Amino acid sequence: MRTHRTVRDVLYNIAWREKVKVLVVGGGGREHALVWKIAKSPLVEKIYCAPGNAGIQKAAQCVPIAADRVDDLVRFAEEERVDLTVVGPEMPLVLGLVDRMNEKGLKIIGPTQKAAQIEGSKAFAKKLMKRHGIPTGDAVVFSHRDEAATYIRTGSGPLVIKADGLAAGKGVLLCRDRKEAMVALDRIMLEREFGDAGNRVVVEELLKGEEASFIVFTDGRTVVPMPTSQDHKPVFDNDEGPNTGGMGAYSPAPVVTEEMHQRIMEEIMIPAVEAMAELGTPYRGALYAGLMIGEEGPKVLEFNARFGDPEMQPLIMRLESDLVPILIAIVEGELDGIEVRWDPRPAVCVVMASGGYPGSYEKGKEIEGLNDAEAMDDVAVFHAGTRNLAGRIFTDGGRVLGVTAQGRDIESAIKRAYEACSLIRWEGLHYRKDIGRKALKKILRSQSNDNSIYGSGSE
Ligand code: AMP
Ligand code: GLY
Repeated sequence: MRTHRTVRDVLYNIAWREKVKVLVVGGGGREHALVWKIAKSPLVEKIYCAPGNAGIQKAAQCVPIAADRVDDLVRFAEEERVDLTVVGPEMPLVLGLVDRMNEKGLKIIGPTQKAAQIEGSKAFAKKLMKRHGIPTGDAVVFSHRDEAATYIRTGSGPLVIKADGLAAGKGVLLCRDRKEAMVALDRIMLEREFGDAGNRVVVEELLKGEEASFIVFTDGRTVVPMPTSQDHKPVFDNDEGPNTGGMGAYSPAPVVTEEMHQRIMEEIMIPAVEAMAELGTPYRGALYAGLMIGEEGPKVLEFNARFGDPEMQPLIMRLESDLVPILIAIVEGELDGIEVRWDPRPAVCVVMASGGYPGSYEKGKEIEGLNDAEAMDDVAVFHAGTRNLAGRIFTDGGRVLGVTAQGRDIESAIKRAYEACSLIRWEGLHYRKDIGRKALKKILRSQSNDNSIYGSGSE
């Protein structure tokens, strides 16, 4: 039987100080959730966050360094003798923050620049998956526009055209037919709408099914899954309107059955971590697979080299174990000795956004009702784009808050999250009213199927 160490064992065995100073990089809802959880740890002496936001400020000292200012972050961590840095967004990872911190002997959670290519280059990720038999959509990578155009012309059926590099989640264009695919190709490679991210394109088959997010902790060898979750990317109810950074999330995602969970671990997550180690670029940190669950099983849409946002907001709420020993174990390659416990109760996060988001929007609207919402049981209001001016809280971004709630079942978690949302006001705010509805429908459908087996169903 595997023995689980206590927190103290981990700290002593690997000669960490008894209490640590932690730096969290980023300033969104995901980072607030991380700070909120880290602040509960008895092992923490101090938390810094760069750059943080008005909610994070309550539990951490915010420092005005943008998340992509690698040199400044390294200097700060050195000067303040930070014991452990945790990175939220992908940009600092792709810019090599982990490598730079490691060169200075500073401990940091996240993949090196080379390992972060799994997110930074879709072509790299596709090649890795192909070589290791990891299920994903068929795809061809092109560096020349004309070759891609010839390929698209000879094909049939719907396609997805993706800019190879980082494009803030916007470089993926779904195309119903060849004509749309040609327009998409030209937007990426001729008009260069996504800049250098469009130096190469990935032309991929369009996959059908339901999406789910699957995130694991890994130290490069051991892979520890978090519960499943699901994001809501389109801005309006019923998945209508343009894509956003995510309008809400819930965990668990009922589309991932126990059998599917096992397949995802065996066919995708473990082989991906093994493949990275084999390449000589071991992957440490959080590895996130965006999946399409279809008739043939799970297929990878993309890998992200980080914790998901907003998914981490409900996930962190469900994490029962202290996060700090888990993070230390990742850095030290000791994840096999750590127990990670999760609360079985579901959690739901509703993102409240500025009027106009994801298009242009105004900032600086005063937010009211935060204290009432925060005072509710089993509710946490994670801040994303907020700013504190003399004790009053104002909007400061497109996605403003992630109102997150737990309940005994998904229905009560949804109800509680929306009750909390109804207490919060500012001019022009908007949010989706159907977060979690898909999960609820799926559960009700499967319950009615179970009932029908016993003759009490309506069919
Ligand atoms: P990505 O950034 O690659 O995850 O793509 C963003 C979104 O585009 C995904 O969350 C999916 O909704 C969609 N998408 C990407 N690739 C495909 C595909 N091959 N088939 C269908 N939808 C896709
Ligand atoms: N939820 C999408 C992402 O974190 O990229």
